[in-house]
Amino acid sequence: MASFEALALFSAYFTAAQSSFLSPLPSAYSNISAVQIENNLAVIPGDWNVSDLSGYAPFYDITTTNTKLSAALNETKAVDFIAFDISFFDIIGSSARLEKILGFPGVSHVHEAPVYVPEMNELLFADTSVIGWLYALNAENYTVRNITTSPPLYNVNGGTYHRGKVYLCTNGSPVRGVYNLNWTDGTTTPVVNNYRGRKLNSPNDIVADENDNVWFTDPAYGWYTSWPGVEQPELPNAVYFFNTSSGALVPVTNDVVRVPNGLAFSGDRRTLYISDTNSTSGKPLTKFPSGVRNIYAFSVAGSILSNPRLVYQSEVGWPDGFRVTSGGYIIVGAASGADVLDPRTGVLLGKINAPNDTIFNIEPIPGTGTWFMTGTNYIYKATLQEKSLPASEVLDG
Ligand SMILES: *[C@@H]1O[C@H](CO)[C@@H](O)[C@H](O)[C@H]1NC(C)=O
Ligand SMILES: *[C@@H]1O[C@H](CO)[C@@H](O)[C@H](O)[C@H]1NC(C)=O
Ligand SMILES: *[C@@H]1O[C@H](CO)[C@@H](O)[C@H](O)[C@H]1NC(C)=O
Ligand SMILES: *[C@@H]1O[C@H](CO)[C@@H](O)[C@H](O)[C@H]1NC(C)=O
Ligand SMILES: *[C@@H]1O[C@H](CO)[C@@H](O)[C@H](O)[C@H]1NC(C)=O
Ligand SMILES: *[C@@H]1O[C@H](CO)[C@@H](O)[C@H](O)[C@H]1NC(C)=O
Ligand SMILES: *[C@@H]1O[C@H](CO)[C@@H](O)[C@H](O)[C@H]1NC(C)=O
Ligand SMILES: *[C@@H]1O[C@H](CO)[C@@H](O)[C@H](O)[C@H]1NC(C)=O
Ligand SMILES: *[C@@H]1O[C@H](CO)[C@@H](O)[C@H](O)[C@H]1NC(C)=O
Repeated sequence: MASFEALALFSAYFTAAQSSFLSPLPSAYSNISAVQIENNLAVIPGDWNVSDLSGYAPFYDITTTNTKLSAALNETKAVDFIAFDISFFDIIGSSARLEKILGFPGVSHVHEAPVYVPEMNELLFADTSVIGWLYALNAENYTVRNITTSPPLYNVNGGTYHRGKVYLCTNGSPVRGVYNLNWTDGTTTPVVNNYRGRKLNSPNDIVADENDNVWFTDPAYGWYTSWPGVEQPELPNAVYFFNTSSGALVPVTNDVVRVPNGLAFSGDRRTLYISDTNSTSGKPLTKFPSGVRNIYAFSVAGSILSNPRLVYQSEVGWPDGFRVTSGGYIIVGAASGADVLDPRTGVLLGKINAPNDTIFNIEPIPGTGTWFMTGTNYIYKATLQEKSLPASEVLDG
């Protein structure tokens, strides 16, 4: 009897000691697949190394000789939600869920350009290697149909829904540009495809504003990726404002952000956030561990951007597409999941975990806590307490 009690005591002690790098979860969250990282892992004991410097290995994959830390990191890798800050729990809520709703067995492709179409209750998205068709996933029963695009769109990489229209960006083909898509019959119509006679590099992601004008990023990923028909860039990497009533194409930044990728407005439209994926760029496409992988905030006045501020640096992969929540937080796709940060403080609050996957983009059902994440291996659905901006405010992409 005595020895049994001693064993139980020892075992309780051992379990507590094992998890000393993790804080206890708030009690309402005890049924959620989550961990809370103690003190942001500010001090890693002993000797350790990043396990894959090329960019895909997140913090929980470090190699360490410390058994307790190794156990805590293995537990971290296995959960759906990783909190660095206690406020992350309020964002996810005590009924948070993460589901894989569509898988791509045996193919390792980049899935991008998720666009939720309320008229259809469908999530459109692209396999960026594809010429001529898109996927449309039913948001209720997860059945998939193909949309054949005509004329065909090449290597679709970004898109947005705005007031009854779908805008898509093509990354490949001899003529890259921004197109409108009719989601019923697949008809495509060019919106803008040149900068005064020069081919665009490869429009990557797009947002609309309250005046129905559009803003898009134009890095050279079509060239870096060697998509068919893409010649050497004729223009600097830039972010553009396109005035849909006058046809004027205005470069708004072409140096602060070296390799512009995702972009989204704050709810009040006074701030435009733009990600820079310089850490994964160049031809051939190269990963630079010391290259920047940032999100910048810019102040917006008309078609002029000013006052860039750094608000995020990913440790792993690169910040790709992202969304701003109704509470002003950013959910951004990266390698191994989606990071959740507060751009007003620059603090990383937590991670929606997708180990061994790379998340390229985030798309919510407007005004709800349903957030789709498009990855290499899966499409995920995260159900969170934190809601997206309502449909009337959805101007991000
Ligand atoms: C956790 O799940 C158990 C079993 O379903 C349930 O009895 C308990 O109330 C749940 N706790 C919380 C905090 O939701
Ligand atoms: C970290 O890398 C160094 C240099 O290669 C090596 O000597 C050391 O054993 C490694 N430590 C761990 C925990 O991987
Ligand atoms: C954590 O997982 C790694 C990889 O599977 C394994 O090598 C290591 O032994 C695990 N650590 C512990 C403490 O179980
Ligand atoms: C899924 O929903 C769509 C649209 O309502 C419908 O056309 C389709 O038949 C449904 N598929 C299944 C398997 O229920
Ligand atoms: C969509 O089209 C592609 C190419 O023709 C095909 O491989 C795929 O199976 C189709 N998917 C569906 C759901 O029809
Ligand atoms: C899309 O195409 C369908 C079928 O051709 C047509 O009925 C519909 O009006 C078109 N939608 C738009 C927005 O042009
Ligand atoms: C990206 O970063 C690398 C390494 O710092 C640098 O060589 C390269 O010129 C950068 N690319 C651009 C487009 O700025
Ligand atoms: C867009 O063009 C229209 C028509 O020329 C003009 O009135 C408007 O001021 C322009 N918008 C911006 C933000 O430049
Ligand atoms: C990890 O991802 C690769 C493709 O990116 C896939 O082939 C492999 O099956 C995945 N492994 C696991 C354990 O999910």
